[in-house]
Amino acid sequence: MAAFDVEKVLEVTHWTDRLFSFRTTREKSFRFENGQFVMIGLKVDGKLLVRAYSIASANYEDYLEFYSIKVQSGPLTSRLQHIQIGDDIWVGHKPTGTLVQDSLLPGENLFLVSTGTGLAPFASVIRDPAVYERFNKVVLIHGCRQINELAYGKQVYEQVLADEILGEIVAGKLVYYPTVTREPFVHNGRVTTMLADGTIARDLGLPPLSPATDRVMICGSEVMLADMVKLMEASGFNEGSGSRPGEYVIEKAFAEK
Ligand code: A2P
Repeated sequence: MAAFDVEKVLEVTHWTDRLFSFRTTREKSFRFENGQFVMIGLKVDGKLLVRAYSIASANYEDYLEFYSIKVQSGPLTSRLQHIQIGDDIWVGHKPTGTLVQDSLLPGENLFLVSTGTGLAPFASVIRDPAVYERFNKVVLIHGCRQINELAYGKQVYEQVLADEILGEIVAGKLVYYPTVTREPFVHNGRVTTMLADGTIARDLGLPPLSPATDRVMICGSEVMLADMVKLMEASGFNEGSGSRPGEYVIEKAFAEK
């Protein structure tokens, strides 16, 4: 079985009964762009069982981090949720994906719009110093059902602010906007609704979303992506790709099983 490295689990954190994150060692030759995903998994009965996972760590770190849902009936995540320090994780050789800077035209503000585990690629993007050279404001929007599901994203954001080097780079630029839909919180509502009706822009003191100034990266469930694409197209945003940069890019949040 070529095309995979075997890495070791370094750390596992359980955030809720449905969410966990883990770190693995990183092969020195493994290169990726912040925001990309890669196939990872386990060997089960001698066979590789892999799924696409966004890499949540930054590409200059000497470990890899992933953020995952736990689905009790899911072939991979029912097993992956039980990994322990020292266990083997297979990591593919070909990271890829559209949530990368080359797919976006230059702009003023970068909106990173996520729901659930769709936050993962943006945990990497907000740690990328180059992003703050390109944009004046980087707005990390994360929508979840409940407050406890925001914990991983909140910690990533707080670590970036507290970091000796990154903290200075992101100061006054990185904005965190968490919202929940199923219990009272400082922000309540679906990310799509709150972008469409101007709530988020108003709360942040920014003008309404505009393709003239704003760039948007989107990662969430299929229904959330469909609604966001409708909103983007209705607002005059064009989808970008590596060969033709645009004003927004989307990627499905992976590993639902
Ligand atoms: P809701 O509670 O109204 O379903 P999930 O865990 O199902 O992936 O949901 C994560 C978050 O995404 C929840 O807050 C959920 O809100 C929200 N959500 C679900 N569908 C959409 C959608 N089509 N557009 C935007 N947000 C959505």
